[in-house]
Amino acid sequence: MGNSDSHQDSNIIILGIETTCDETACAVVENGKRVISSVVSSQVELHAPYGGVVPEIASRAHLEMINPVISRAIDHARTVLQSRQDNSNEFHIDAIAVANTPGLIGSLLVGLMAAKTLAWVWDIPLIGVNHLHAHAYAPALDAEPIDYPAVALVASGGHTSLYLCRSCLDIELLGATIDDAAGEAFDKVSAILGLGYPGGPAIERAARQGRADKIRFPRTFLDENSLDFSFSGIKTAVLYYVNGTPGAIRSGVSKGIENLTEQDKADIAACFQAAMVEMMVVKLRRAALAYKTKTLIIGGGVSANSALREAVRKLGEEIGAKVRLPALQYAGDNAAMIAGMGYHYLQAGKIDDLQLDAIPTTRQ
Ligand code: KG4
Ligand code: ZN
Repeated sequence: MGNSDSHQDSNIIILGIETTCDETACAVVENGKRVISSVVSSQVELHAPYGGVVPEIASRAHLEMINPVISRAIDHARTVLQSRQDNSNEFHIDAIAVANTPGLIGSLLVGLMAAKTLAWVWDIPLIGVNHLHAHAYAPALDAEPIDYPAVALVASGGHTSLYLCRSCLDIELLGATIDDAAGEAFDKVSAILGLGYPGGPAIERAARQGRADKIRFPRTFLDENSLDFSFSGIKTAVLYYVNGTPGAIRSGVSKGIENLTEQDKADIAACFQAAMVEMMVVKLRRAALAYKTKTLIIGGGVSANSALREAVRKLGEEIGAKVRLPALQYAGDNAAMIAGMGYHYLQAGKIDDLQLDAIPTTRQ
């Protein structure tokens, strides 16, 4: 560790809180970059029986987990900072960053209340952070700064958005899904194939055994220059492929899920995944070329997908752009990305007061 890094005055330590959906998370991050502790409590098992996130269950689970998760993140950070050789870091927190938009309202409120309480009790700044913008920042955690301008594809269970990032704070929405989110399509196709929830990892696993050129599912690109996405068509195409069209079901000629072999399912998963990756990468390519950006970024739960990561790496080589992929622990929802972004908000003087609102959804 260099001198400038260890000097007490130069170290800004931010506690981040994330409760937008179904992960209760808290992290402590130094100077927007170095993750000191990151705790994520997933509710996936609670929602699995329903095949998707149940908002009321999510907010109740956040209420139960928020205090233990914050305590664990602080305890771990204290241990790490106090064990540093140079002894330069008395444990302190300079500000609280919280994801206040977008998300499920009941879930957002739990994190927001915890953040406001800590900011008030400790008398330190409160910073509201956009969860989706934070996903686009995740590749900078424990890594080199991102070279801007960049285009960022943020694909998760609730959103699929394409951004022009002139810096980590100057972010413009270029396009978004007009129907289902990419992660939602993975979850629904997994449910159609009986592969379980969450669907993304299950489809990825099945796809490894399948042939991606077996079935040509339709790709939706919308207008020639469109940077929006549409994934409802492919979901329906898989449904019809598996169950037959409504006419075929009525006349009894549908194959039906019960007649699919494991190999059939693996092939469908591989072909679906290939179509999804192509739809996302084509838009990323369009945006990168249109805005002549230096860097390609992906983020959100779907950015854990290895086929997508590989395709984006190839795209970077093809168009001569740098590629920034989040480390796998920062692809899905986490609070390190919130604390990381919080640092830049703080440096820019973008601080909130205790009136900070939870803003559930908008096209963003
Ligand atoms: O960002 P995230 O953790 O939570 C939301 O903000 O929604 O994203 C969760 C989504 C789920 O739909 C999940 O199926 C998807 O990310 N996902 C994946 C993979 N891992 C998670 N999708 C494709 N491939 C994966 N490996
Ligand atoms: Zn997310």
